Amino acid sequence: MHNILTSVTTHESQIDALIQQMTLDEKIGQMTQVEKNSITPADVTRYAIGSVLSGGGGNPYANNPREWAKMVREYLEAGLQTRLSIPVIYGVDAVHGHNNVKGATIFPHNIGLGATGDAALIERIGEVVARELLATNVHWTFAPAVTVPQDIRWGRTYEGFSEQTDVVIPLALAFARGLDKAQQRVLHSYKHFAADGGTDWGTTRFDAWGTADNWQAATETYQIDQGDARIDEATLREIHLRPYKAAIEAGALNIMVSFSSWNGEKMHQHKYLLTDVLKGEWGFEGFLVSDWKAIDQISPDYRACVVRSINAGLDMVMVPYDYQRFIDTLRSAVDSGEVAIERIDDAVRRILRAKFALGLFEQRFGDETLLDAVGSPAHRAVAREAVRQSLVLLKNDGQTLPLSKKQPSLLLAGNAVDNIGIQCGGWTIEWQGDSGAITTGTSILDAIRQTVAPETTLHVDPLANFAEGLQADIGIAVIGEQPYAEGFGDRLRPALSEDDIAVLHRLRARCQRLVVVLVSGRPLILTEQLPMIDALVAAWLFGTEALGVTDVLFGDHPFTGRLPFSWARNSDHLPLAALKASAEAPLWRCGDGLS
Ligand code: BGC
Ligand code: BGC
Repeated sequence: MHNILTSVTTHESQIDALIQQMTLDEKIGQMTQVEKNSITPADVTRYAIGSVLSGGGGNPYANNPREWAKMVREYLEAGLQTRLSIPVIYGVDAVHGHNNVKGATIFPHNIGLGATGDAALIERIGEVVARELLATNVHWTFAPAVTVPQDIRWGRTYEGFSEQTDVVIPLALAFARGLDKAQQRVLHSYKHFAADGGTDWGTTRFDAWGTADNWQAATETYQIDQGDARIDEATLREIHLRPYKAAIEAGALNIMVSFSSWNGEKMHQHKYLLTDVLKGEWGFEGFLVSDWKAIDQISPDYRACVVRSINAGLDMVMVPYDYQRFIDTLRSAVDSGEVAIERIDDAVRRILRAKFALGLFEQRFGDETLLDAVGSPAHRAVAREAVRQSLVLLKNDGQTLPLSKKQPSLLLAGNAVDNIGIQCGGWTIEWQGDSGAITTGTSILDAIRQTVAPETTLHVDPLANFAEGLQADIGIAVIGEQPYAEGFGDRLRPALSEDDIAVLHRLRARCQRLVVVLVSGRPLILTEQLPMIDALVAAWLFGTEALGVTDVLFGDHPFTGRLPFSWARNSDHLPLAALKASAEAPLWRCGDGLS
């Protein structure tokens, strides 16, 4: 129904007519995407800018759904004021719910959705996310990631559904279908093209002239994110390219290019992959958007960055700050003939095609009547269901789980036992996420309190330093990773932290049976700790709805989740290729999970 082919035939003559009327500056404006703090609505009108975005944490001063709607509306109105009145499209990273917005429903990150394996559920999630986006006038999310992470040391592992391409494809397409099903269509970006999950540890290289804003800190931390995928073309196609082919066949209107490289060549200047394969071989009719300031990494000479990326097939540039420099550079490159006007017209055509296909020319704004639905009980119920299905039971000695709701007392410990921020992970309210009560939701402690019998005494201490002599049958440790995003999460040894291990030892001494709920963006190495644990649940970064966890811990629903990634015994078995090459079996295989 929403196939691109129908939109091509419906709108192509209107697009022709528009392009004929457009000046070069108006065309370049369409190709320009600016970060909202770097431009006023008046300048969006003045430069006929095509798109504005909020990066991670690009929130209005008062962060609530209503202020979001107002902020975005002002940029959309700026589009109406331009000479040709071409709609502006506003983009955000709604990668697990409309996750910058305080009060929005936060779903499990993709790794948890991968564990559900439930495409129908994920389609419903897409529809809910679309409704929360439309409430705030946003018509574009930079999701779903169709990355296929091959190395859990990568800080973006949790953005991927699975290490297996065949698991990723149907789930990503389901999410996209869901986004199309709300009252208006929401544009999705399949990202990051390509092999962002296939880079090698230690290959990230930052030069002072390009890169992330905080490149100095990034230089020290980033090791594999934005690195180089050193693989042959057959492997590239088999593991990393197939999701894009499937997305194009399903009518993809947008793909985001990856910061990373393939055999030493930056994706943002990779004409063979961007133009020959995507647009040629596979007939992609939508547009390619860059990643954040990513073209700047191509060369110390900004003009070369612009010329090479656009000529390679990039259609819209997430500048995101100095848009005047981008516009001036591209205009001058067109004037000098370094970029052909045909390439510009092709880029603009692709962008307009998406705007027509979404229906933005008829319906420029979202639907603020949906504001009350943002974070509503109905939406949270869908998230709770997803949490339930995402939990993977890895060990359950002596039928420790499910727990009875009628415990005399429970000992509760761990840094994530009462911490919405940790359970949500990165890309929540802020780019890197944050620990603590960062948004509305239910922590594990809240959820346990609501679930157990009123007579149950809960003893809570994140560090498990309980009063002397205190003992209980059951101790629950909710431990895991501090929030991170992108390369700030690259870790050579993704393992339980020393602090978490100490908590396990202290709690172990106080209880008959130790239940561990692991809140993490990837498998963590815990082979040595496993013997002291009676029951182990991988809960991933499950979002705001911890009642989904207690639904299963206390037996109202069964465990159904299956591992979306292999679980290595030790860090010598990382990355996945090393695990596969090793004679020793993994601790658990992809697909494992007890019922
Ligand atoms: C990330 C993208 C994201 C973009 C906009 C980049 O740093 O790599 O995934 O869509 O920022 O926030
Ligand atoms: C933005 C993110 C972006 C990152 C890239 C941050 O300041 O908030 O969206 O991905 O920069 O460096």
